[in-house]
Amino acid sequence: MFISREGFGKDFSWGVSTAAFQIEGATQKHGKGLSIWDDFTQKNNKIRNNHNANIACDYYHKYPEDIYHIKELSIPNYRFSISWARILPNGTGLINQQGIDYYKRVIDYCLELGIEPWITLYHWDLPLELEKKGGWSNRDIIHWFAEYAEVCVKHFGYAVKNWIVLNEPMVFTGAGYFLGVHAPGVKSLDKFMAAAHHASLCQSIGARIIKSYLPESKVGTTFSYSHLEPYRLFHEKDEAAAKRVDALLNRLFIEPLLGFGYPVKDLPFLSGIEKYIKSDDEKTLPFDMDFIGLQNYTREMVKHSSVIPLINAKIIKASKRNVTSFTQMDWEVFPRAIYLSLKRLHAYKKIKEIIVTENGAAFEDNIENGIINDEKRRKFLEDNIHEVYRAKKEGVNVKGYFIWTLTDNFEWAEGYHPRFGIIHIDFKTQKRTIKASGNWYAQFLKNEVHL
Ligand code: BGC
Repeated sequence: MFISREGFGKDFSWGVSTAAFQIEGATQKHGKGLSIWDDFTQKNNKIRNNHNANIACDYYHKYPEDIYHIKELSIPNYRFSISWARILPNGTGLINQQGIDYYKRVIDYCLELGIEPWITLYHWDLPLELEKKGGWSNRDIIHWFAEYAEVCVKHFGYAVKNWIVLNEPMVFTGAGYFLGVHAPGVKSLDKFMAAAHHASLCQSIGARIIKSYLPESKVGTTFSYSHLEPYRLFHEKDEAAAKRVDALLNRLFIEPLLGFGYPVKDLPFLSGIEKYIKSDDEKTLPFDMDFIGLQNYTREMVKHSSVIPLINAKIIKASKRNVTSFTQMDWEVFPRAIYLSLKRLHAYKKIKEIIVTENGAAFEDNIENGIINDEKRRKFLEDNIHEVYRAKKEGVNVKGYFIWTLTDNFEWAEGYHPRFGIIHIDFKTQKRTIKASGNWYAQFLKNEVHL
């Protein structure tokens, strides 16, 4: 097929995404408070190779260079997140003007270069002071978050038209409060249930606040979304297991937002969430978002397992299957997953518009004579964009695609090992080198290459 950028339409937003904690560094500079990730990364054996993000990509200082690269690559939209503790060091109350000024400089520089800024309010770096009070498991978070959202719209609304409330609530509540593999490292079913409900409330409360100040703005929130399949075909128990995992990973946050409540029927242990629901919450949970952000990286295969409590299911990682290609995250390369995920979201009639707010792949890169020919990543992006096009042609209202991510960065519990960037970073020297995938994206955006 011959598909050019133009085939997606003029109103299709092409972009690239980042997140504050993964790139900024300067974790204690200019009045910034600590976040749960600053704390978590100082603990032993939580992060691969005990890496931390004290410096990360030094983007706090190098943002002009990185944003200039976005311009050089002809990428018209840039999604980044605000570090809550940089602007409210204690989570609430005192505003750190130096933090506000910093993000204003970032925003203004984007605009100066003709790049449209998209702000994510929350990409996992909760102020540590709030975690000391229970963090997402404390219902007061709905007031703390509302205050934070208000500070952001009041200070950045002069220039920012596109807003994303939460990044992947399933991941930060599940990995953070139930599995304990992400900050704040809590392992409690009860705390997870509470955190999940409060995050659900915050996604709609945050959106309402943005809309009330900026009625013309475009507001959405993002969800991790994995296409799931039973490990053994026509195996009833695996099919049932896949359905349960689907309720947990794919439906738990989107369905209350759309007004369907929590998917308790398909995953009975979720009824534990009910004790956190107060009167009127059911009215607060739904919100008519302008768009839903879809973040898909792979498909997952689910097997019945009687030894895993509550869910009785486990995901069989790509390296344990007969898979020809998988990434440094042990995720199968399976571009059709993004098409299937888009179709599935499209089936929720209430969703107005979908934007792929993250998609990308981590592969090892080799520099040869200053050149990084990351063909696997380039092909991954090309094939995924192709699948997005296919869904669009079949009537899915998908209106944007953002690559994860601009530069190699701190990949949470995996440290600096996985490289997702379309720009390489030498973490010893902080030197940036545009990879072949980045140049390819630029050529595609300039209509110089087609799919
Ligand atoms: C997150 C990113 C992360 C990426 C790759 C998403 O879950 O939003 O912060 O780096 O996936 O794991």
